[in-house]
Amino acid sequence: MNPAHAQPHRLDIWLEEQPKALRHVVMTIAGACERIGEAAGQGALAGLHGLAESDNSQGEAQKKLDVFADEVLSQALAGCPHVAGWASEEHPDPTRSEDFGVHGDYLVVFDPLDGSSNIEANISVGTIFSILPHPFRGTPVGDAGFMQPAKQQVAAGYVLYGPSTVMVLTCRNGVQAFTLDRRSGHWLLTRSAIQVPATTREFAINTSNQRFWDKPVQRYVAECVAGETGPRRQDFNMRWVASMVAEVHRILTRGGVFMYPRDNKEPRKPGRLRLMYEAAPMALLMQQAGARAVTGTQELLEIVPDTLHQRVPVILGSADEIARIV
Ligand code: AHG
Ligand code: MN
Ligand code: MN
Repeated sequence: MNPAHAQPHRLDIWLEEQPKALRHVVMTIAGACERIGEAAGQGALAGLHGLAESDNSQGEAQKKLDVFADEVLSQALAGCPHVAGWASEEHPDPTRSEDFGVHGDYLVVFDPLDGSSNIEANISVGTIFSILPHPFRGTPVGDAGFMQPAKQQVAAGYVLYGPSTVMVLTCRNGVQAFTLDRRSGHWLLTRSAIQVPATTREFAINTSNQRFWDKPVQRYVAECVAGETGPRRQDFNMRWVASMVAEVHRILTRGGVFMYPRDNKEPRKPGRLRLMYEAAPMALLMQQAGARAVTGTQELLEIVPDTLHQRVPVILGSADEIARIV
């Protein structure tokens, strides 16, 4: 017997049920994230704290770790024969794979480092990724190939760099979590068939934006805060990490609601979070875990992107609460 098969809980073995090409792509991302996790874990010692001397495509100041994570992922994907192209939060346009841009099976879209404001504070950050089919395989992938709704993702997930490094993954077959065993370098299945409880008493929102929210969000949060003395007749708890990956991980662990709703702080921006590499992969994870992700008026899985860096309002988590908010 192949000794590897004695451990069916390893990510590479668990992926054997998936098409070979997809397996290769996920393992490529896992390898890159292991390197990013190592750098994040080295903290100040890695020399990657603080600002890089550049802005990203959206005019946001880049941190050194944003740039590092982006380079590690881009380099890894360039070497994967099944990836036709990729797009990152850190670049204005998608990149076509020099070697595999015609025949590669998939496109990968990612937020290389989510929660950048937390890096120096030693609070959890992560990488978010979305895997889409190459829609016109056999022709060189162009920008339009990326404009696919979240429901077309073949796989999605994130890697959380916290006290432990954890990959949460769906290949549209439920949601599983693999913890990186730092001694062996293997990702080991630590939770499978993750389900988000339908009810919750915990919500997450940045209340410093309260005066800019729409009425329904104002009302929902006011009712939670009123607790036992309000119409909900029960007390609620609130959390805000400012790393979407960490908030989603908490929701996949014990339920809850996460909101970065539409606000009128900057009327040009309909939301803070980006559809393709933040909202879409989390929306698929939520659906696969029996939870929901909406803008407030639309299901996130249904939105066809107009542009790569399009922003959307995001409200996700425990199904009963999302139904109430909608
Ligand atoms: P990024 O670090 O990739 O720019 O994303 C940060 C996002 C998200 O992770 C988090 O929920 C939100 O921004 C935090 O926003 P505030 O600073 O407004 O709380
Ligand atoms: Mn982000
Ligand atoms: Mn980011």
